[in-house]
Amino acid sequence: MSVLFRSFINKGRKNLFKKLLNSTQSTCRCVFFRKYSGSEKKFVSFDEIVSQRRSEAKRSIVVQVNSQASFKELYGYCSKYATIKDVHHYKNNNDEHFMLIEFGSEESLQDVLRSCSTHQKDLDTMANNSPFLWFRTANGKTESYATPTTVLASINGIEQVNEDKLFKELVDCETVSDQIQLLYDRTRLNDLGVRLRYMVARQIECMLESLYANVAVRPFGSSINGFGKMGCDLDLVLTNTLTDEMTKAGSRLVFQSARVEGGRAPWARHMQALGELLELRAAGAARVQRILNARVPIVKFAHHYTDLECDLCYNNMSGVYMSELLWLFGSLDDRVRPLTFAVRRWARAVGLTNPHPGRWITNFPLTLMVLFFLQQKTNDGHVLPTLKNLVRRAGKEDIRIAEENLNCTFLRDMNKLPPECYAQNKANLQTLLLQFFEFYSQFDFQDKAISINEGISVRKPNSLPLYIVNPLEQALNVSRNVSFEECERLKAEVRNAAWQLEAGMDKQKGDDWGLLGLVEKKTTRGLKKLLRVGNSHRLVSVKDLFNDTDDRIPEDSVKSKVE
Ligand code: GTP
Ligand code: MG
Repeated sequence: MSVLFRSFINKGRKNLFKKLLNSTQSTCRCVFFRKYSGSEKKFVSFDEIVSQRRSEAKRSIVVQVNSQASFKELYGYCSKYATIKDVHHYKNNNDEHFMLIEFGSEESLQDVLRSCSTHQKDLDTMANNSPFLWFRTANGKTESYATPTTVLASINGIEQVNEDKLFKELVDCETVSDQIQLLYDRTRLNDLGVRLRYMVARQIECMLESLYANVAVRPFGSSINGFGKMGCDLDLVLTNTLTDEMTKAGSRLVFQSARVEGGRAPWARHMQALGELLELRAAGAARVQRILNARVPIVKFAHHYTDLECDLCYNNMSGVYMSELLWLFGSLDDRVRPLTFAVRRWARAVGLTNPHPGRWITNFPLTLMVLFFLQQKTNDGHVLPTLKNLVRRAGKEDIRIAEENLNCTFLRDMNKLPPECYAQNKANLQTLLLQFFEFYSQFDFQDKAISINEGISVRKPNSLPLYIVNPLEQALNVSRNVSFEECERLKAEVRNAAWQLEAGMDKQKGDDWGLLGLVEKKTTRGLKKLLRVGNSHRLVSVKDLFNDTDDRIPEDSVKSKVE
């Protein structure tokens, strides 16, 4: 029985929302219905999920412990101060053990924090408050603690799936659809992965709260858009929006504020300072890099306690709304996320995507390609609506204006979307994956651009090799960095994948049947096998297929996140 299911049974309906968070963050396999103002509500909103996650983080701490066996003692110690809701255990890459503890309320957490002490009296480590703590060995005789009233909600909770085990399970699947679903279930970002991402955001928020008014640090990108896999990077955005209360005209007493002198944009200066603060004040932050000349200045850092690679930018709310948009599309149909996972994994395996920035396509535009494909009308209808449709249906409550007056208004409440607008095409995942490759094998990349706003291809406004319209800023191309060669490789690889998948649907074909042939990293063994089956004419170029992309030097050292 899964940990999630067990806790669901133990704690009953109170945990229903929690279960939903887990499922909506990553899978919508269980369609969730909830009574809401007397009517049935099928979809929960992105804002609800985010505010639930943020509130969870405000009630949580992460404590470094000796081992998993410290659970009982830590639980007993903390429950002297506050009611504990849940405890999760995990290890980082250094084999250090941690427990994430969620308390019943923010007040409880404050009681616990008041009981904490500081590392040592030392100028090198000036005291600071942070939700990341460690559990000191008891001094003298150990107290006896009450037995925990709950079990650990997860053990080794962020351990990534063993690839050999995963491939074995994929071999044993019955159908390609099962393989795609399994890949998704085993590799998607789990509940603890999301919690830890919100904890890092909370830590930085706590650090900045005394320096800036109304400051918020939020995760965005794959950490929250439903397309994240275990171990994905953490994109963070810092905002300090002025509320109506803060700008009320009637008030005659106004805060004096510091003027930022100097040529550089003021926020680049603040980001510079933020880099310093991370180095000096954020426990666990390491390898801080300031990339301030990019269009969107970012501070990159590694977070040691959570093993996260983080990118922090300022005021990039369009990134958050983009994540919301992707999340909404993913929540509309159970097949969207597993299909995208399969495509992303295939793209990585054939070297189309690469962890380093450069002239190749990245996961975000690749995801837009999947969404665009799912918008296509077949004889059975389409899977996803167009963005234009969501914009047309937006109400006053959906109005969002991001930085630089960017209009990010679209329907947020998917319960208002008529059922005929989505999931009309009932094809299984296997069919959809094959159709995806076939669709792009025939796509006119030369003259056409991909636009999820329109759901149909539109004329390219320029001769860039790959044109994928930025859904929130339609004059921009999110794949402008992709070179001619990389676009050619993309075209070649989708053709190869279509052929390979079609030829390898039969489970009896051996260890690389179905999805396996697409997601296993290509080796010369694989090359020989492909040539042996006598279809080498379908291979575009052996050199292209087995190019080790990791050796390529990225042209730009940094790709700006937002155009
Ligand atoms: P992975 O990190 O690869 O797992 O995926 P990701 O979706 O998090 O992509 P990435 O970290 O590259 O970017 C984070 C988010 O920034 C994306 O989800 C988008 O919301 C946004 N973003 C990324 N690239 C662009 C771009 O070229 N233009 C715009 N407007 N937004 C972008
Ligand atoms: Mg990311």
